[in-house]
Amino acid sequence: DKTKKIIVTIDGPAGAGKSTVARAVAERIGLPYLDTGALYRAVAWKLNKEGIAPDEGERITKALASFNLELRPGGLCADGADVTAAIRTPEIDRIVSAYAARAEVRDALTGLQRAQAANGLVADGRDMGTVVFPEAELKIFLTASAEERARRRYRERRARGEDVDYDEILKQVVERDSYDMTREIAPLRPAPGCIILDSSDMDAEAVTDAIASLAVEFMGRK
Ligand code: DC
Repeated sequence: DKTKKIIVTIDGPAGAGKSTVARAVAERIGLPYLDTGALYRAVAWKLNKEGIAPDEGERITKALASFNLELRPGGLCADGADVTAAIRTPEIDRIVSAYAARAEVRDALTGLQRAQAANGLVADGRDMGTVVFPEAELKIFLTASAEERARRRYRERRARGEDVDYDEILKQVVERDSYDMTREIAPLRPAPGCIILDSSDMDAEAVTDAIASLAVEFMGRK
């Protein structure tokens, strides 16, 4: 059904609820979901494993040329290994931003992301609306206060049985945002024409409802 092939982008800082909401919106409107943060995490996992530092541009380009990244429903395979769990560790959280700031890394992933959009999609990340899919029918910038985002991360990690400190998480949230927002290439910022949604006082369901009904409206127009 051609009328359904729209692109919905959801960008915003860490902990705003992008992935939960993007996945739910995709399911609700029947489009594929693309988690682009997972792609950056998989690249960080690979380069770190090979002992390649974020400032080694040539080695990065070489390593990524032969890197086999496969998107599977519900998972991600890197060089044949299922890395779905391995990319969600505190270590990857700590190192991923430095790799994501590199042009060699971003260039390698931009084509892969665009190649997923043939049947429309819901994609979440930092530069979906600004760089990768500027022509998207619906662009959302999903944000929430740093305190609320840190609270959400804190609860998630506690629920996983991790020993966590709220102040430490808040500090990391603020640091990672400022890094992602001030990097030279594809900095995190609202795309022209986007709708800015502050989810500080909304639960995931309310945010999903809001975005899904906008998406349905745009699908009707197409
Ligand atoms: O959303 P996340 O926490 O899984 O993202 C991991 C890192 O990747 C984060 O530091 C921002 C970066 N990223 C990016 O630069 N561009 C994207 N489209 C998605 C993520």
